Amino acid sequence: MAVERRPPSLHASPLLLWSLLLVGCECVPTQRDTTKEVASYTDVANQIIKLVLSGPAQKRSYQRLSNFTDAIGNRVSGSHNLELAIAYMYQAMSQDGLDVHLEPVKIPHWVRGEEGAEMTQPRPKRLAMLGLGSSVGTPPEGIEAEVVVVSSFEDLKSRAGNVTGRIVVFNQPFVSYSETVAYRAFGASEAAKLGAVAVLIRSITPFSINSPHTGWQDYQEGVRRIPAACITVEDAQLMSRMVGRGQRVVVRVTMGAKTLPDADSFNTVAEIKGWLHPEQVVLLSGHLDSWDVGQGAMDDGGGAIISWEALSIIKDLGKPAATEDHESRAVDRRGARRGRGSTVNMSNYDLVMESDLGTFAPVALQFTGSKAAQKVMQEVVKLLAPMNTTRLEPRAEGTDIGPWMQAGVPGASLHVQDSRYFWFHHSEGDTMSVQSPDDMDRCSALWAVVAYVVADLQDMLPR
Ligand SMILES: *[C@@H]1O[C@H](CO)[C@@H](O)[C@H](O)[C@H]1NC(C)=O
Ligand SMILES: *[C@@H]1O[C@H](CO)[C@@H](O)[C@H](O)[C@H]1NC(C)=O
Ligand SMILES: *[C@@H]1O[C@H](CO)[C@@H](O)[C@H](O)[C@H]1NC(C)=O
Ligand SMILES: *[C@@H]1O[C@H](CO)[C@@H](O)[C@H](O)[C@H]1NC(C)=O
Ligand SMILES: [Zn+2]
Repeated sequence: MAVERRPPSLHASPLLLWSLLLVGCECVPTQRDTTKEVASYTDVANQIIKLVLSGPAQKRSYQRLSNFTDAIGNRVSGSHNLELAIAYMYQAMSQDGLDVHLEPVKIPHWVRGEEGAEMTQPRPKRLAMLGLGSSVGTPPEGIEAEVVVVSSFEDLKSRAGNVTGRIVVFNQPFVSYSETVAYRAFGASEAAKLGAVAVLIRSITPFSINSPHTGWQDYQEGVRRIPAACITVEDAQLMSRMVGRGQRVVVRVTMGAKTLPDADSFNTVAEIKGWLHPEQVVLLSGHLDSWDVGQGAMDDGGGAIISWEALSIIKDLGKPAATEDHESRAVDRRGARRGRGSTVNMSNYDLVMESDLGTFAPVALQFTGSKAAQKVMQEVVKLLAPMNTTRLEPRAEGTDIGPWMQAGVPGASLHVQDSRYFWFHHSEGDTMSVQSPDDMDRCSALWAVVAYVVADLQDMLPR
C-alpha cells in the first residue's frame, strides 16, 4: 500500500520503545566525497546483514518479540500490563548490556469496562463489537434504539430528519486506512449533531472474518458525547441489507467505558554512546503500548523490538560507531512527544527513525530530508543490495517522529510488504502468528545498517 499518514490525534497507542544510537566518526577528516565515504561501509553493512540473516542474530528479533508478547500480552495505555511491559524491556535491554533509562511521561488512561451489543429486532443476534478509545459509556442498562444505516457523511446528512433518538450504523466502504478512518474518528460527533444516541462504526479494514477493530475516536468540542463502538464489516452489511428490505432493525449497546486522569508512565530508552560526538543522536523507535486486544505483536511490538535489535547488532559488531548516540526507547507516545520535544536539543538529532507500519518483508526506506540529505541516503540504501532493498522513497511516516521532522530533523521509516497490515490492525488478530522470523530479520538488518552508517558518517545529514 502507499503508506498512509495517520493524524497524530487518531493514533492508536500511546507508548514507545526507542533506540538511541549515539555514534561517532571513524573516517578520515579530509575525505569529503560522500559517495566514496558511504561506499567505504560496504564491508560493515555486509557484516551486519550476514550476522542477522545467517549468523548468530538470526531469528533473534522474532524470538525476542515472542518472548515479550507471550509473557506480557497486550498493554494498553494506562494499564498494569503496560507497567509490566516497561519493566520487562528495562530488564531485557539492561541484560543485553545496553545503557537503559526511563523518562517519566503522562499517558492517556481510558478503560473499556464491560461492553456488548446485540440486535434485538428483527431477530436476536449478538454483535461482535469493541468500544472506541476515548468513548463515553452508556447507562448501566444500555441504550436500545432503532438503527439508521448510512454509507457516508453525505448520506448521514441526507437523513437528518430521521437520526434523532436513533443509533447510527456507519457502513462506509473501505477505501484506504487514511481516508476511511475519518468515520471512526469523527462519526460519533457528526451523528450526535443530528440527535443520534450512539454510533456503531464498521471496522476500518479491507478484510474481515467478523473481527471488530478498535482505535481512538475524537469528540468535537461543544458536541454532545455519545457512545461509540466499532462493529464488524459483516454485521454492518447485514443491518444495511435488512434496512434496505424495509425491516426495522433495533440494537442494544452497553458500554462501561470511562476516561480516567492521565496516568504516570515512562519512555524506555536504551543507548550506545559514541566517543567523538556523544551529544549527536540517531534515534530508532517503536511504541511499546498496544490496543487491549490480541498481543500487540504487529502494532507495534515488532517496531519496538527491531529498534532494540538494531542496537544489539551494532553492539555485537564490536565496533562502536564513533560519532553519535544510538537510542532505543519505549514510551508513551503523546507524553513522549511533549516530554522529549521540550527537553531535547533537536539540532543534535542527526536522524530520527520510527517503525510503526509493521515488520513484514521490507521493500524500501522512506525518508524525509533536504535534497542534499536525500543524496546521502541514496548512497546509504545501496549498502542494502545483499537484501534487495535499495529503494529510497520520499516521505517518512511516523506519529512520534513527526514533531522532529516538522522541526527540520531528517526522518526515516520502514516501507514493508504491508498489504495485510490492516487485516489485523487493532484487532484480536494482532498476534505473533502474523509475524515471520525471516521478515523481522530483514527489518532489523536494514534498521541497523542505516542507523550505524548515518551515525558513523563524518558529517551529520545536511538539513
Ligand atoms: C526467550 O526466552 C527463552 C526462555 O526464557 C530464553 O531461553 C531465550 O534466550 C529467549 N530468547 C531471546 C532471543 O531472548
Ligand atoms: C424518515 O423515515 C420515514 C419512515 O421511516 C420516511 O417516510 C421518510 O422519508 C424518512 N425521511 C428522511 C429524511 O429520510
Ligand atoms: C544545541 O546544540 C547546538 C549544537 O551542539 C548548540 O550550538 C546549541 O547551542 C544548543 N542549543 C541549546 C539551547 O542548548
Ligand atoms: C535478492 O534477489 C536475488 C535475485 O532476484 C535473489 O537471488 C536473492 O536471493 C535475493 N536476496 C534476498 C536476501 O532476498
Ligand atoms: Zn502503532
